[in-house]
Amino acid sequence: MTNPAATQRKLRLGILASGGGSNLQSIIDRCQNGSLAAEIALVIANVPGAGALERANSAGLATRCIDHKSFNDRQTFDREVVAALQSAGVDLVVLAGFMRIISAVFLKAFPQRIINIHPALLPAFPGLHVQKKALDYGVKFSGCTVHFVDGGVDTGPIIIQAVVPVLDTDTEETLAARILQEEHRIYPKAIQLIAESRLRVHERRVLIEPPVESSPTPLHNPPLD
Ligand code: GAR
Repeated sequence: MTNPAATQRKLRLGILASGGGSNLQSIIDRCQNGSLAAEIALVIANVPGAGALERANSAGLATRCIDHKSFNDRQTFDREVVAALQSAGVDLVVLAGFMRIISAVFLKAFPQRIINIHPALLPAFPGLHVQKKALDYGVKFSGCTVHFVDGGVDTGPIIIQAVVPVLDTDTEETLAARILQEEHRIYPKAIQLIAESRLRVHERRVLIEPPVESSPTPLHNPPLD
């Protein structure tokens, strides 16, 4: 007798990256060790020589480098990326350190099927250089956010967040490194929830079904006596 779970088609991921690809690596590792029920159909980088391409090649994954500089405008670049993702049969587009804004062409091709990770506790500090902005502002907590992508910059419905305390001794680099460690934990978890079809978006709220019990314990930084 065949096991239906074993024969079920895995969620096919298209991963877009611009840089070193440590988030890509965390997804590769989880797919390989079986804790993430998904497969990486294609990795696309928009920067020639991006570390993400090297990581993908080492893992034996299909890759494309689509250099945005070879295109006259954002739409034409996005059309090329969308065509590559569609021909690879991608179900979910995962932006993993992809430093380009997604146009309407892209959103229309993958409605509610594009997710992003951002190294701050949105809606605080969208955009770039956000660890420096968090330090300059003097927040006591920062963190990271996985969200669905909509037409704004880092504005879509939030799937999961991790809170990272800011230390008095932190520099941009030390804070970024601690946030990155949490990115590597929450991104695979968000993808797994999607692979299990457990997310429902109601207005701005992303609900998990069946519900999970979250801890109601508040966090304090500095700690209370
Ligand atoms: C990560 O910190 C990711 O959150 C951030 O770029 C870094 C990529 O690191 N993304 C953004 O800032 C998107 N606005 P990685 O290449 O090692 O995964």
